[in-house]
Amino acid sequence: MGRYLDSIPSSGIMRIRDMMFGLENPYRLDQGDVGFDAPDAVKAAMNRAIAENKTHYVQTLGIPRLRELIFERLRDRNHIPIDTVDDVMVTNGGIHALYVIFHGLLEPGDEVLCADPMWPTTRGTIQSAHGVTVDCPLYESRQWRPDLDELESKITPKTRAILLNSPQNPTGGVLTRVDMERIAAVATERDLWVISDEAYEDVVFDGERHMSIASLPGMYDRTIPVYTFSKSYAMTGLRLGYLAVKDRTVHERIKKVLYYTCSNIGTVVQWGGVGGLENGQAQVEAFRVELQARRDLFYAGIAELGSGVLSGEPPKGAFYAFLRIDPDWRPPDATAEPESLSWALVEYLIKEGRIGCVPGADFGAHGEGYIRLCFAKERRELTGALASLKTLLAVRA
Ligand SMILES: Cc1ncc(COP(=O)(O)O)c(C=O)c1O
Repeated sequence: MGRYLDSIPSSGIMRIRDMMFGLENPYRLDQGDVGFDAPDAVKAAMNRAIAENKTHYVQTLGIPRLRELIFERLRDRNHIPIDTVDDVMVTNGGIHALYVIFHGLLEPGDEVLCADPMWPTTRGTIQSAHGVTVDCPLYESRQWRPDLDELESKITPKTRAILLNSPQNPTGGVLTRVDMERIAAVATERDLWVISDEAYEDVVFDGERHMSIASLPGMYDRTIPVYTFSKSYAMTGLRLGYLAVKDRTVHERIKKVLYYTCSNIGTVVQWGGVGGLENGQAQVEAFRVELQARRDLFYAGIAELGSGVLSGEPPKGAFYAFLRIDPDWRPPDATAEPESLSWALVEYLIKEGRIGCVPGADFGAHGEGYIRLCFAKERRELTGALASLKTLLAVRA
């Protein structure tokens, strides 16, 4: 019986997606999808795989060539002290990696320390694995990083894991090396797992470099790093991700969930991943440069055209503008106080301006008062949305 699923909320992102499909020529700044297409290296490898009839069942953990390339990347690029390709598992995107991890790791009632705001899908995934999410606020005044004393104070005898996501969705916050060292010390002292969602590892701006907590001494023993091809290689619809786990018992458990949820990941897509890792890196770097330009274009537009209703600092990573809403803003036709300012603004922007965006409230209680807009879309779409915003926000209640 799946009655327990009734208590897990559906994501507001789903509700917004449905609202957006009802509109003509919408600005899809609600979705965390890039405006680029997958690199030619990926598409060519997939075409080859189809021509060579690579259409049959393959190994549950992934095809050997892809796992080998992932192993090398984790070791050489992420500086994770991984000894064997056996640790690597290929998954159906990052969301599936998180699903198999939490279902393989958690006992019912285990607590997982999470950020608030956070990508709600992971919260639902933890709850679907009978885990309990314990929210730890992120602070705009700390560039959307947690207060680590506060984080430590939330650990209880039931805490099993800390979930990290750096660069972070929705805020773009990036943990510093000092933050990671402190979290590593806490996790080690309190014997906790760290699930490190590094979906945006290739989207780090201003010359900074991504760092995995699993690269710190001793941390790979207790960290499960998670990656996806979705954001780096513009492969959101192709569904390819991966994780690495060293502990053999946990590895076996996660492998079972992997098998029971998909048998193996689509072979053609896995060959696409091989193409991306072998020959797609220059394209990933070109995407990053363009994303930084789009970030700057978008924030300049918000400063100029946002009528003071929206504000915030450009993020250090990921591709979202998580913008503060002027607390005095009200929908022009409001007859009563809105229950949620962020939902009120989102509904106004979608209905009146066709601008897709997500209310901060959907990411957690600390997200209320903010909205998230994705700036990874085509420049044309960004400037169109900004022009529409200008008209709408100039009208004050
Ligand atoms: C923080 C975070 N983790 C993981 C993912 C997973 O993406 P996918 O399932 O497309 O690989 C996303 C996608 O939006 C994300 O924002």
